[in-house]
Amino acid sequence: MDTSMAVLAGPASVALGAKVCEELAVTPTVYDARRFPDGEGQIELGESVRGRDVFVIQATSPPADVHVMELLLLADACRRDGAERITGVIPYLGYARQDRRSSRRSLGARVAANVIDTAGLDRLVVIDTHTPAIEGFFASPLHHLTAVPLLANATPVRDDSVVVAPDLGAVKRARQYARLLEVPTAIVHKTRLDGEAVEASDVIGDVRGRAPIIIDDMLSTGATIAAAVTAVRARGAVDPVTVVVTHSLLVGHAREILPPLGLAAIVSTDTVAIDPPANLRFSSVSVAPLLAEAIRQLHVTRPW
Ligand code: R5P
Repeated sequence: MDTSMAVLAGPASVALGAKVCEELAVTPTVYDARRFPDGEGQIELGESVRGRDVFVIQATSPPADVHVMELLLLADACRRDGAERITGVIPYLGYARQDRRSSRRSLGARVAANVIDTAGLDRLVVIDTHTPAIEGFFASPLHHLTAVPLLANATPVRDDSVVVAPDLGAVKRARQYARLLEVPTAIVHKTRLDGEAVEASDVIGDVRGRAPIIIDDMLSTGATIAAAVTAVRARGAVDPVTVVVTHSLLVGHAREILPPLGLAAIVSTDTVAIDPPANLRFSSVSVAPLLAEAIRQLHVTRPW
């Protein structure tokens, strides 16, 4: 049996997948991703993965529905070709924010987890999901990696820095950064009004005369960051204002509302393939070494 590693860089993660392969000194497995005139996708492997330990790297980033389906097709092609084991490496897990149901809404995180569980993946690797409790939504074993130390290393810190959690959900993560950066914390009280509108009503902690480092798991439309920046400035925070997030989606009005904030830097990672606008001081830390190390450790030639 050939238990050698095969790494597929899915359509949502081509550049990151290539970097991971470079780290691992393997050639990405070739496949063809087609789209038929009616919009349906199809994957055809360009080489055999029979008996191999396969890692499929595919973020379920926007458009999440398309990227989830591509992940399922990639996994299916590998399984039908006789892969020995298949690991889904999902650098950014979409739908994770829909982890609670209110009113008569669907529960997206559960639905996405159920669908991914049917893909024939033996296990999953994810990075900084919206909530660690997401693991309980999946039947498949899930390995949760964090980019926090990588980001903390890349964050410029000053004597007057304060780490700011832009909402209550970010408090734990902010405390983790604050410990690593050895600076105090503050918390913004945020209320989400709809998909693109939030309201920051209060700031807990002292930000006066301090340079904020706003920490979150992700930057999507930028509404949370914009509200947090306005709130801390209104309470006397000073420049430079730095934003640190694992995942940057830059959807909706993000490209319009972020530049006027005059941020000193947005420090993020390459979990999501985006093209940041030139008028944003955006710096990207690659998670490729983190993923490559996880793959190295998970790649075993014996049953696991
Ligand atoms: C929400 O709980 C998340 O942690 C982020 O704060 C949020 O998803 C960011 O989204 P947006 O950039 O659209 O405000």
